[in-house]
Amino acid sequence: MINTILDTVGNSPLVQLRNLVRDEVDVILKLERTNPGGSIKDRPALYIIEEAERRGWLKPGGTLIESSSGNFGISLAMIGAARGYRVIILVDPKTTPTNLAMLKAYGAEVIVVTEQDDSGSYHKTRIALANKLHREITNSFRPDQCFNHLNGEAHFNQTAAELFEQCERNLDVVILSVSTGGQIGGFSRFFRENAAHVKIIAVDAIGSTIFGGTSHSYLLPGMGLSWTPTNIDDLNRIDAVYKVPDEDSFMMCRILARHEGILCGGSTGAAMLVALKLAMQSRKEKRIVCIASDSGERYLSTIYNDEWMHERSMTLSLDPLELRERVKKLKAYSVNPIETANYIPELESLLDSPSRQYFLDSQTN
Ligand SMILES: Cc1ncc(COP(=O)(O)O)c(C=O)c1O
Repeated sequence: MINTILDTVGNSPLVQLRNLVRDEVDVILKLERTNPGGSIKDRPALYIIEEAERRGWLKPGGTLIESSSGNFGISLAMIGAARGYRVIILVDPKTTPTNLAMLKAYGAEVIVVTEQDDSGSYHKTRIALANKLHREITNSFRPDQCFNHLNGEAHFNQTAAELFEQCERNLDVVILSVSTGGQIGGFSRFFRENAAHVKIIAVDAIGSTIFGGTSHSYLLPGMGLSWTPTNIDDLNRIDAVYKVPDEDSFMMCRILARHEGILCGGSTGAAMLVALKLAMQSRKEKRIVCIASDSGERYLSTIYNDEWMHERSMTLSLDPLELRERVKKLKAYSVNPIETANYIPELESLLDSPSRQYFLDSQTN
């Protein structure tokens, strides 16, 4: 059968570690890099666009406007090219040259937002400007990955269900890195409803305040936020939260490449630290699945570049034994994340996000 490019989203493979963990435990990665846009974000991007078309929020010839410094923007740019939409992506100075080049290759227009928000990041200023442009540009649509709950719904309906079937319903833990909360929101709801014994573990960057704590800058790409996103609609479905350092996560990425032949992105390295931790200590949990959101090719000039690492005083060690010593020291930041939640209910209207209105309008029409 011959598909269009968008028909190839999904059905990502599972691969098992062979060298870094003992035989009694299966550590499995779900390799989302096989999506055509190169990351897991193809799934919510396509789901939201198709829902928006179906519900009449997005019309032929429309313009997609989104705040994204990476994967979600690239997915939208690809979808826009395939479906004939104009795409405007708001990025910030931290966006890598590789991501900018990919956005432009797909024909997206890129706006670089340079004003920082109150947490020192660019999330809120990017979102506010995207919402302003949406009000100004007729026939535009805001996928709104941070506030649109269709983001989590995509993973509930598709990614989590797909994983469950691929594992023949036999798994004990799922480990997910977090930013907009789409992945963990969808997965945690799916497993609570379908296999409540499966533990759901969130991994965030030290310096992000999704699960509370002190805000400061960090290097982990694709992770973190300065509030608890509404796609995590019930923190009680998350069994534990780990906050991991940049350096150990990047070391994990480089060791996975050298010792397992798996070239992954920074957020996968972060999640794999926790997978290794559980594999080293676990007697009960035999099948640990880690969602590998993207590929290392996007980070060849950063995480996999010795000079870039050296300039940031990051270790170049590729010694698995040293990595294990670091992993041993990792501790759960929280096993009851509701206690440290950082929900800011007024943020959606402060930033003038349109998602709630889309749904309200749908109900009244
Ligand atoms: C590489 C990567 N990993 C993990 C995540 C986190 O996924 P989510 O936004 O669904 O929480 C993102 C989100 O941008 C990402 O780009």
